[in-house]
Amino acid sequence: MADGTEDTYRLLDDMPPVPRLPGHVVLSEDADAALDAVGLDLVSHAKACVRAFGDFHLALSGGSTPMPLYERLMIDPAYRDLPWRRTHLWIVDERCVPFGHEKSNFGQIREVLCDHSDIPPSQVHPIHAYDDDADTRYEAELREVLGWREKGHDRLDFVLLGMGDDGHTASLFPHSPALAVDDRFACFNRGPAVTPPDRVTMTYPLINSARFIGALVIGAKKAHMLHRIATGAEPTSEIPIKGITPIGGEFRWYLDAAAARWPQ
Ligand code: 6PG
Repeated sequence: MADGTEDTYRLLDDMPPVPRLPGHVVLSEDADAALDAVGLDLVSHAKACVRAFGDFHLALSGGSTPMPLYERLMIDPAYRDLPWRRTHLWIVDERCVPFGHEKSNFGQIREVLCDHSDIPPSQVHPIHAYDDDADTRYEAELREVLGWREKGHDRLDFVLLGMGDDGHTASLFPHSPALAVDDRFACFNRGPAVTPPDRVTMTYPLINSARFIGALVIGAKKAHMLHRIATGAEPTSEIPIKGITPIGGEFRWYLDAAAARWPQ
């Protein structure tokens, strides 16, 4: 059809069905649209939290998937309204390396976001993962800063997660010691089950208490694991992202079509 309608139909026909995952699934036709979907939700949550509480507690993951989103937040006019001056930035997990190391999550996030937004440095909360007391220090900092909020509202507002193709999220790896931690906000995760280098990670209790949790999962490489989550009954020890079960908050998956198209 000369007006392009036919192409539109073909595109929609090409979309896989929305996978049945625990939580709400936002399925976009490509990676670009998935980044926009999570970015726009981030802006609306940030504004709502600033209206309600005067500030916004955001926890970001590392990994390659969210980096284009972080860049977009800095340059796209659609995100100009993000209230960085009222935002506290937390890091979901960190490798035990200095911030200048190429594998440091904070190092990368700092370069893209902190250096180009007007977030006050006192509201940026990196994990000093190369220090022996990094986990207890991070927990103390979380408790102190969130403690300014009224009881019941003293939780993270928006946690952005990714997922490895082995089903890990944050630095919660299959069969790793951190999966069993239920009385702490942050802990070291080490040992043979952890992809080196050693890590410090937010724990299930902290992540699951968040007001909103988003999992951004893009690309065909992740399809096999999403299929296992949607169709199997494997335990959390095998697929750690299955342990993301919010207590009263909302959980949304942001997928592109490639991630949701099951391998035949
Ligand atoms: C990290 C993460 C980790 C990440 C997944 C997915 O620091 O690496 O917090 O949980 O989200 O490994 O990584 P990719 O986006 O690179 O696939």
